[in-house]
Amino acid sequence: MDKILIRGGRPLRGTVQVRGAKNAALPLMAASILAEEACTLHNVPCLHDVFTMDKLLSAFGAKIEFTGRYMTIDASTLDSHVAHYDLVRKMRASFFVLGPLLGRFGKARVSLPGGCAIGTRPVDIHLKGLEALGASIAIEDGYVVAEGALKGAEFSFDFPSVGATENLMMAASRAKGVTRLFNVAREPEIVDLAHFLNSMGAQISGAGTDLITIVGVDSLGGTEHTVIPDRIEAGTFLIAGMATRGDVTVLNANADHLPTFLGKLRDAGAELEVHGTRIRVNASAALKAVDVTTLPFPGFPTDLQAQMMSMLCVADGVSIMRESVFENRFMQVAELIRMGADIGLDGNSAVVRGVKALSGAPVMASDLRASAALVIAGLAASKGETSISRVYHIDRGYERIEERLASIGADIERVND
Ligand code: EPZ
Repeated sequence: MDKILIRGGRPLRGTVQVRGAKNAALPLMAASILAEEACTLHNVPCLHDVFTMDKLLSAFGAKIEFTGRYMTIDASTLDSHVAHYDLVRKMRASFFVLGPLLGRFGKARVSLPGGCAIGTRPVDIHLKGLEALGASIAIEDGYVVAEGALKGAEFSFDFPSVGATENLMMAASRAKGVTRLFNVAREPEIVDLAHFLNSMGAQISGAGTDLITIVGVDSLGGTEHTVIPDRIEAGTFLIAGMATRGDVTVLNANADHLPTFLGKLRDAGAELEVHGTRIRVNASAALKAVDVTTLPFPGFPTDLQAQMMSMLCVADGVSIMRESVFENRFMQVAELIRMGADIGLDGNSAVVRGVKALSGAPVMASDLRASAALVIAGLAASKGETSISRVYHIDRGYERIEERLASIGADIERVND
C-alpha cells in the first residue's frame, strides 16, 4: 500500500495542466454501449475509475483500446447485459450502465451499488424513472433486474441526481416517443453527455437546464468526442495554491464550469485572473473566512467541499460550511482536527474556526475528495510531516497527484509502505 509524505509550509507556484473530467468520462464510456459502431474519446484521464469502467465494459464483450488519453470503444458485438457485484461495488458509476443496457437490449441485470463512505447513496430516482419509461424493475439477490421495451414518458425528479439524469437520458434516447425529464441535474458533465449522445444520432435538447426533452430514435451510431476538462481537479489545484499562499495557474480549465466556487475564492481573498482556459489564483493576501453551502450545479460543488474546508482551517475568522447534497461527507474532519484544525460538527453543518497553523501528522484517506483535502492540509501545514495512508482513494480521481504538485514546488513524495 502506498503512502504520500508531505512536508508543508511552501507556497505553490507554477502552472498545472487539468486533465479530462472523471465524472464526464465515466458516463461517456457507459453511453458507448448504445452505439452499434465504434466510438472514439479524446482527453480521457488515466484514473483507476476509468480502468474499472474499462474492465466492466470489456466484461460485456466491448473491445476497448486505451493508450495515452485516447480511447476507442467498440460495443457493436456486446454479448452480455449483466454487471457483476464485484465490479459495481468498487465504483458506484458502474450503475450508469443500467440505462444504456436497457435502452439498447430491453433488458439488464446490474448489481445495486451499495453504500459508500459518503452515504447510503440510494438509486430510487434511477429506478422510478426507468419504471416511468415502461421498464419492469425487480430486485433479486442484490441485483436490479430490468426488462421492457421503453416508451417516452414524463418524469419529475425528487432531487436533481446527476447519475439518475445520465441513466435516464441514455435510456430515453432509445425509447419509442418523446420523454421529458423535469428537475434534472444541470452539471456540465450532463451537457457533455448530451453532446456525445446527439453526435451518435440521439435527439436531446435542454441539457444544462432543469428540463431535458429526448425524442427516442431506433439506433445510435459511432462518433468521436473530446472529454471536457475536470472542474473538480481544477478547483482542487486552485485551493492548494490558496491554502499555501502561492500563485497557481491551471491550464485547459473552463471557468464557466465553476461559477459559484470562483466567487467564493474571491470572497476568501484570492486575486483571480481568467484568460480563456487559464485560471490563475494569487493568494499572497491573508485568507478570509467564508460561509459555504454545497448545492447542485451551478451552486458550490459538493466535490470541492472537503478541499475548501482544509483551506478555511487556516483562514482568518469563522466559516460555516453546510453539506446539503450528501448525508455524511465530513469524513475529513476528524483527520483535520488531528492536524490542529478547530472544527465543530452539528449534523450536516461544520463550524470552521481558522487557526494560525496546522501541523503535519499521520492521517488516513477515507474517500476520494476527503483524501484531496488531507493533501491540501499537509501542504498548508507549517511544521511537521504529513503521511497519508490508503492513497488508492486519491488515485481514483487524480492522475499522479504527487508528481504534479511537486512540479509547482511541493515537498511531496509517494513511498511504498
Ligand atoms: C455524481 O454522483 C458524481 N459521481 C459525484 O462525484 C458527485 O459528488 C455527485 O454526482 C453530486 O454532484 C460521478 O459523476 C461518477 P447524485 P451521483 O445522484 O450521481 C441522492 C466524486 O467525488 N440520490 O447526484 O451518485 C444521493 O444519495 C464523486 O467525483 C437519491 O436519493 O450523485 C445524494 O445524497 C463523489 N436517490 C444526492 O442524491 C437517487 O436515486 C446526490 O447524488 C440518486 C441520488
